[in-house]
Amino acid sequence: MRMLQRWMRRLGMTLLLPVAGITLLSAQPVQCTGPYRGLPEDEMERRIDTLLSRLTLEEKVAMCHAQSKFSSKGAERLGIPELWMSDGPHGVRAEIMWDSWLYAGWTNDSITAFPALTCLAATFDPAAARAYGRSVGEEARYRHKDILLGPGVNIYRHPLNGRNFEYMGEDPFLAARMVVPYVQGVQENGVAACVKHYALNNQERWRGHINVQVSERALREIYLPAFRAAVTRGHAWSIMAAYNKVDGAWCSENEMLLNKILKGEWGFDGVVISDWGAAHSTRGAALHGLDIEMGTGPGRPGVSPKNYYDHYYLANPFLEELKKGTLDVKVLDGKVRRILRLMYRTTMAPQRPLGRKNNPEHLDVAYRVATEGIVLLKNERRFFPLEDKEGLTIAVIGENAVKKMTVGGGSSELKARFEISPLQGLQNAYRKATIRYAQGYASGKYAWDREVPVEADTDSLREAAVQLAQKADVVLFIGGLNKNHFQDCEGADRRQYGLPFGQDALLDALTRVNPHVGVILISGNAVAMPWLDKVEGVMQAWYLGSMAGKAIADVVEGTVNPSGKLPFSFPKRLKDNGAIAFGRTSYPGDSINVQYKEGLLVGYRWFDTKKIEPLFAFGHGLSYTTFRLLDIKSDRKKYASGDTICVLVTITNSGDRDGAEVVQVYAGKPDSHVMRPLKELKGFRRVFLKKGESRRIVIPVAVDDLAYWDEPSHDWKVEQGDYLLYVGNASDNIARKIRITVGP
Ligand code: BGC
Repeated sequence: MRMLQRWMRRLGMTLLLPVAGITLLSAQPVQCTGPYRGLPEDEMERRIDTLLSRLTLEEKVAMCHAQSKFSSKGAERLGIPELWMSDGPHGVRAEIMWDSWLYAGWTNDSITAFPALTCLAATFDPAAARAYGRSVGEEARYRHKDILLGPGVNIYRHPLNGRNFEYMGEDPFLAARMVVPYVQGVQENGVAACVKHYALNNQERWRGHINVQVSERALREIYLPAFRAAVTRGHAWSIMAAYNKVDGAWCSENEMLLNKILKGEWGFDGVVISDWGAAHSTRGAALHGLDIEMGTGPGRPGVSPKNYYDHYYLANPFLEELKKGTLDVKVLDGKVRRILRLMYRTTMAPQRPLGRKNNPEHLDVAYRVATEGIVLLKNERRFFPLEDKEGLTIAVIGENAVKKMTVGGGSSELKARFEISPLQGLQNAYRKATIRYAQGYASGKYAWDREVPVEADTDSLREAAVQLAQKADVVLFIGGLNKNHFQDCEGADRRQYGLPFGQDALLDALTRVNPHVGVILISGNAVAMPWLDKVEGVMQAWYLGSMAGKAIADVVEGTVNPSGKLPFSFPKRLKDNGAIAFGRTSYPGDSINVQYKEGLLVGYRWFDTKKIEPLFAFGHGLSYTTFRLLDIKSDRKKYASGDTICVLVTITNSGDRDGAEVVQVYAGKPDSHVMRPLKELKGFRRVFLKKGESRRIVIPVAVDDLAYWDEPSHDWKVEQGDYLLYVGNASDNIARKIRITVGP
């Protein structure tokens, strides 16, 4: 038998002992082409029952914790393979060493870098999210990963969170609509998505211990809907428990979040994986919902770096409790059942596609998402598009024109096969005009855990840029944030709302010598713009991955008409943001607790309700053409719970270019008997129209989506009475309000 096993393993097959009900060969390393095919549910559960009866206690416990930085054990004796995981979410991360965070130095692990999730959210295009998920899933599959650690759907609560760029913005409806197709796309490959960071990890500062205090309503209406959709509609196979605490309990051992809501109410049948180092106790993890413990460090008393996986909370200490009988074996079996289920869906699925990476189709998807997500914020005197013509001199100024943005940011850092910089993109696109470049300012190098001092002579950099601007016809300033520590990066929050590295002063100097300045901001966060009145155009270009430079150049030059919409509000001043407005107890907290004092009023809900004007509103985004929304109405006037309201709009591209527009429907309840934001996004549709073209479109709004979370009954409740539907192309640009009634 051993000989046979060895021989089969060499051929890439695994022998399962002939156990009743289990086919002889597991599907593990057998690489099949063709579409994904999983086992029928009942067959899967039957096989799991059999495996559970054959696995020893030790083998089962070994499956509940890491065996290396990014893998957990199977059971070789029974042909159960290991599980391999990788970050996530913008591409598949380079290989990491077995026991350390160092890169392994492989030469075959470069990949396609996709735009950051903020950009994906800005497309308001669920089909793009599906294509994105499918493509990144194919790359994960090709790289032999069973779990992709992403997407992230923590809500954008304030502009200082260092990880906002990895998430899908401030609106729960938008994030929910975008996360479902992403998850489905990844999982079509037989690769599990791991939706993170569950829940309320809305700041990096003190993320390892801060306790979030949030109202039940805000939890249900703002912070959980995207996770809920990922689970109930996207059928995510795994979820990552966050570092922080919620209501006094660690997220990795949180009875309310994990057992009651996720596994109970939502019927999640997948695996809860701890964030790396987020587990804190054996009994807590065992009893309150964690299934696989990852990343627990060796830095604890009595733990040596040699055998530290055995000291994980869900390793030997767990085994001891099970042996003593202080923990029931059923607790262990529940976890292993979930892990085996995930394996049958991924590495032991009967058929999985092979995957592929760095192929033209993935680059196309990356390019499409990037171009659809770029947001034109301001455009005076038609600064954009900037036509390519003989005799035109363009001064491109700013470090972000040449800086690699797939490098840095923490765990989402990528080893891109290539990354087209904005400067390269512009140089390729502009054949007639002359492009000259000056760096203008400098940041330090990337280090994920500290700020590296700037070594450049900043005065000379600025002087050279000003001189270049003086001689040019137009200036394209390409700046913003970057992926360094204290910028858009994991592990710390931003320290200021304004642009870093002296960019405000530089922009001031540039606008003094040249009246035609356009700004391209590369960031995953809102920034202050004290220079806004002095520049003619502003474009929000995110972190766009491999195809960044081409996407930016094509939108700047006008080959592509911008159509992205902001997935979060830009406040004029930091203190205009709801979370920040309540002072330190509300953000960043007192280092022990943080109280979400703004409650439901996150993002535009705050600006709208408090009548504070933002710098740029949620949903805002200009175009090179013009759109008119006409004949806006609902199909009926009266509805009941369970109905769908059809909002009808005739949209006309009345300008002189083809392009896409996003029609948005918000709902509000003026005389509600509970506090409600003025209006909330409840439907949207992205439409592409040729110039002069008109189309009648329908945007469905589910009446049940108008529900609020009723704290006394701990349930959703659809209030009867009148509602207002606000239809427009931005939260601050409403073409028409429609009154409808919800009756019994
Ligand atoms: C991050 C996760 C990531 C994990 C593994 C953690 O520090 O918070 O998002 O997936 O590391 O790299």
